[in-house]
Amino acid sequence: MDKIILAIETSCDETAVAIIKNGREVLADIVYTQMEIFKEYGGVVPEIASRKHVEYIQPCIDEALATAKMTFSDIDAIGVTYGPGLVGALLTGVAAGKALAFALKKPLIGVNHIEGHICANYLTYPQLNPPFLCLIISGGHSHLVQVKKHNEYKLIGKTRDDAAGEVFDKVARMLKLSYPGGPNVERLAKDGKDIYDFPIGLKGQKEYDFSFSGLKTAVLNKVNQMQQKNEEFRDEDIAASFQNAVIKALVDNSMRACKDLGETRLALAGGVSCNEAIRAAMQAACDENGIELFKPEKKWCTDNAAMIGCCAYYNFMNGNVKGLELNAQPALKIV
Ligand code: KG4
Ligand code: ZN
Repeated sequence: MDKIILAIETSCDETAVAIIKNGREVLADIVYTQMEIFKEYGGVVPEIASRKHVEYIQPCIDEALATAKMTFSDIDAIGVTYGPGLVGALLTGVAAGKALAFALKKPLIGVNHIEGHICANYLTYPQLNPPFLCLIISGGHSHLVQVKKHNEYKLIGKTRDDAAGEVFDKVARMLKLSYPGGPNVERLAKDGKDIYDFPIGLKGQKEYDFSFSGLKTAVLNKVNQMQQKNEEFRDEDIAASFQNAVIKALVDNSMRACKDLGETRLALAGGVSCNEAIRAAMQAACDENGIELFKPEKKWCTDNAAMIGCCAYYNFMNGNVKGLELNAQPALKIV
C-alpha cells in the first residue's frame, strides 16, 4: 500500500510543506522563503520568522494539496520538523502538524531537521541507501555523520564554534554583501584569487571536528589592517581565499574520515553544499581517493519539506511515531 505523507518544515526562515509518496516520490514541494524580508536586517529575526510562519503555513498546506491534486483524505500521516531550530519558528510547524494529525486522526511523525538534510540525498538518488558518510554543512550545523541505517546515525565530527554557513554569512557582512551571504561570497570568489594565507581550523588534528571562528577573525583582521593602511585590495580575492580555506577544512576532514573509517561513499547535505566550488573540490578529492560522491539537487540542499517527508517516511516505517505531546526541541541532537 502506498504511503502518502504531508510534511511541514518551519525551523528557520522557510515555511515549507511537501507531499511525498513512499518516501521518495515528491508530489508537491512548496517553499515560501522569508529571505527577502531578512535582507533588510542582515540575518533572521526569530520573532518575525515565527509570525511569517503563522501567516504562511495554511496557504502552503493548501497549495501543496492543490499541486498534488489531493485532499486531506489521501494523507496517511503528518511529518513535522520538531528541532533543532528557532523555538518560535519550530512551534508554528509543530502546532500545525499536531492540529492536522488530531483532526484527521492520522499518525504524527516528528523529524530531526539534520536527519532531514541527510535524506535530501534519497530524493536525488532513488537507489541510495545506507551505509554512507554524510557531511552536513548548513547555516546552523557542520556535522560529519556515519549513516549506518535509515534512522541510525553516529556523529563523528562537528564544529566547535561557528557553522560553515554562519561563517559564510558573517564574512559576507564584512564584505557588505547582503543576506544570505553564502551565494554572494561564492559569486565574488569566482573572480578572485587565493592570495591570502588564511588559517585552516584544527589543521593536523586526529579528530574530525571543524572550527571556523579563527578563520572568520583572520579575515576580519586582514580587511581592517588593509583598510587602516590604505592598502588596495579586492573583495574578490578575500572571498576566494576565505572560501578556499573553508574548502580545505571540509575536504581534509571528509577524506580522512572516509579513509580511517573505511567509508567508500560520501554524501553532501545542507545549504552550503549548493556551493559549486565546494562540490567541485569534493568531487576531485573523491575521484582521487576512489570514493563515490552524492550531491543532492540544490533545491533540496537548502531548507525544504520534501526532505522532511522522506525522513518522516523512514521514521514511520520504523514505528517511530509521536503523540500529541510532541514539543519543539530547539537544541535537538542527531544521536
Ligand atoms: O541548510 P540551510 O538552508 O539552512 C539551515 O538549516 O541552516 O542553509 C543555509 C545556509 C546559509 O548560511 C547560506 O549562506 C548557506 O547555507 N549557503 C551557501 C550557499 N548557498 C547557501 N553557502 C555557501 N555557498 C552557497 N552557494
Ligand atoms: Zn537546514
